[in-house]
Amino acid sequence: MRVLVTQEALERRVADLAAEINRDYADSGTLLCIGVLKGSVFFMVDLLKKLTIPVAIDFFQTSSYGSRTTPGEVRIRKDVDIGVRGRDVLLIEDIVDTGHTLNTILGLLRFRGARSVKLCALLDKQEAREVAVQIDYSGFAIENLFVVGYGLDFDEHYRNLPYIAVLEEEAASVPSPS
Ligand code: IMP
Repeated sequence: MRVLVTQEALERRVADLAAEINRDYADSGTLLCIGVLKGSVFFMVDLLKKLTIPVAIDFFQTSSYGSRTTPGEVRIRKDVDIGVRGRDVLLIEDIVDTGHTLNTILGLLRFRGARSVKLCALLDKQEAREVAVQIDYSGFAIENLFVVGYGLDFDEHYRNLPYIAVLEEEAASVPSPS
């Protein structure tokens, strides 16, 4: 296992993203921040602690990476409890891979009448994309490698690592902020 994004780099980038979000929503009402369980939890908590604007929180849970049988099929296992109609929504995700999960959730939020929907994703695996997804706040662009830590798992292991690591031995370049 090798470290791809250090704890210090994560802290710096999360602070930068929070500053951007604070600026962009300075004149809005309460921002509804929706995390996608379970991977986004560590990122979401750190990010939200740095927001100075009023927020409400809720969660979606979708079918997990390993159990997906039909490519592009996304199942909502846990829906949000708070109504999104007329709300400014910030969707918070750990990683955008093929884009199917986010594409489905973003579509659902818009269909339900959210006033605005933006996406904040910590990691962006652009090479793996199968459907286009607009990431409004993006932490790091990374290569098409399987990563763990800071919420991301391999078979439920490694979520509590305080950094992002690559499971395989192959070398990968350190990502730059995007
Ligand atoms: P997508 O629908 O293919 O974009 O997949 C998104 C979900 O797949 C993420 O929320 C993660 O749960 C999972 N995932 C994608 N890539 C990785 C990875 O490198 N490590 C761990 N989980 C991943």
